[in-house]
Amino acid sequence: MDQSKTPYFQALLDYVDAGVIPFHTPGHIQGNGMEPSFREFVGDNICAIDLTPMPGIDDLLQPTESIREAQELAAEAYGADRTFFLINGSTSGNQCMMMTAVNPGDKIAVPRNSHKSMLGGLVMSGAAPIYMQPEVDESLHMDHCVTPETVARTLAEHPDLAAVYVVSPTYYGVAADLAEIARITHDAGKLLLVDEAWGPHFHFHPELPLSATAAGADLSINSTHKMLSAFSQCAMLHQIGERVRVDRLQSVVKMFLSTSPNLPMVASLDVARKQMATQGEALLSRTIALARDARERINRIDGLYCFGDELKGRPGVFDLDPTKVAVTVRGLGYTGYEASELLRRRYNIQVELADLFNIVALFTIGTTPQAAERFIAALEELARDERPLDMFAPSGILEQRLNRGSYRLPKIPPMRMLPREAFLAPTEFVSFRKSKGRICAETIAPYPPGVPVVAPGEEITDEALRYLRLELKAGVRIQGPYDAELRTIRVVKE
Ligand SMILES: Cc1ncc(COP(=O)(O)O)c(C=O)c1O
Repeated sequence: MDQSKTPYFQALLDYVDAGVIPFHTPGHIQGNGMEPSFREFVGDNICAIDLTPMPGIDDLLQPTESIREAQELAAEAYGADRTFFLINGSTSGNQCMMMTAVNPGDKIAVPRNSHKSMLGGLVMSGAAPIYMQPEVDESLHMDHCVTPETVARTLAEHPDLAAVYVVSPTYYGVAADLAEIARITHDAGKLLLVDEAWGPHFHFHPELPLSATAAGADLSINSTHKMLSAFSQCAMLHQIGERVRVDRLQSVVKMFLSTSPNLPMVASLDVARKQMATQGEALLSRTIALARDARERINRIDGLYCFGDELKGRPGVFDLDPTKVAVTVRGLGYTGYEASELLRRRYNIQVELADLFNIVALFTIGTTPQAAERFIAALEELARDERPLDMFAPSGILEQRLNRGSYRLPKIPPMRMLPREAFLAPTEFVSFRKSKGRICAETIAPYPPGVPVVAPGEEITDEALRYLRLELKAGVRIQGPYDAELRTIRVVKE
C-alpha cells in the first residue's frame, strides 16, 4: 500500500473544497455558528473539517471507503491483520479488548500495575481477575513489568485461564519480554492482550523495544496521542491471527464508539500513521538522541539519577524506551511531587508524571532541543539551590517510614467478590476509618501512576488504608472513588 497517502484526511479536504451547502451536524456548521473568540483561537480550518459521517466521508462505525483504507494502511504500518481507530483513548481500548476476549466468570491474568481502565473492562465483562505481581523496584520506588516466569507460573496454576493481559511499557518506559510472554501464552493455547498505550512509536524504530504487534499479541492497544502526533484521545487497537473472534471484536468496537465521532481526531490518526510510516525512523532517531543526551547530562548533576540501559536485566526490565526520561530526585531531598511543582512554578516547565521519588519528562517527536536545554538547566539550578528541608533526611519522617517499609506498595488485598458484582451491588458510604474490613465497591488508585491500591470486590485492609493515608498526606490525587479526598469510601452493604 502507499503509506504516503492519507485517504481519510483527503476525504475531509475534498468535502471542504467542494463547497457543499451544509444542512447537517455539528450545529456550528463549519464554524459559522461558533462563539467567535473560540473560533478565532482554534482557527477556521479545524472547524471546516469538523463534519459528520455521510456519503463520501465514510463512517467510523461501518467503514467501507476512506476510513477502511486508512485503517488498512495503519494495520500494514503496524504489521497487524486489522487495526481499529479509537477516539476514547486506550481507556476504551482496554475495555474493548476485555469485552472481546472474556465472558462473565472467565479468568484472565492481569498485572496489578494495570491502568484503571483495565478494571473498567473487568466490571463490564464480568471476568475474574487473576492478579500477577509485577516486579517491584524498591530503590526507584516503582513497579516494573511482569516477567515471562510469572506468566508461565500463573498459566500453570490456572490452566482454565481464558487470556493473559500484560502492560508494556510501563508509564516509566520499562518494557516486558513480550516475545517470550507471547510464546508461553500461545503455547498454552491462550489469548495474549497487550496494553501498549505508552508504546505507539515502538514499531517504527529498531532501537526501541519490540512492539506488541511484532511480538504477535492477539490484541494490543496504542495511545497514538501519548507519544505520537494524533490529537488527545486518539488510539488504535490492533488484532493479529485467528484466535480472536473478529465478528465479536467488530461489534464491541462499535459499541464503544460514538455515532458522531470527532472527524478531525480520526483524520489525525490517519496523518500520524503516515508520519510514522514515511518518516518515523528519522524523526524518532532525533528524539532518541535528544533524550540520550539529556539522560547523560542529568546523570552528571549531583543528587539526580536518570536510569538507562544499566537497568536492563533487573527483574521485570527486559528493555527500555529511552524517550521517557525518568529522573529520581530523591537525592536532592525533594519528593517527585515537590520537584514537579517547583519546575512548574519557577521554570514554567511541566513534566508528565511525578511520584514520591521521581519525575518523568516525555521526549517525543515534538520535543525541541531548546526545550530539552531548558529542562536540563532547570534541574541543574534546582540541584544547586539551598533546600529548605530535606524530605529524605535520615531523621525525617519519610526516611523513617521508608526504612520501616510503611511506604512500600501494599500487598494486593484479598478479593471477596468479582469486580462486576461489587460494582453493581447495593452500596453505602462509610468513613475512611470505618472502612477497614469492608468490601470496596470502587477503584482507589493514586494518580499518577493510577495503579489501584484497592479494586472493586477487594477487602479494604489496614495496610491499604495506611498506605493511602501517606499518599493523601503527600498530596497525591486519588482517582476512581466518589469522594476523591477519601473522607468516605463506597463499600458493599453488609
Ligand atoms: C498503561 C495505560 N493504559 C491505558 C491508559 C489509558 O489511555 P488513554 O489516556 O489514551 O485513554 C493509560 C493512561 O495513562 C495508561 O497509562
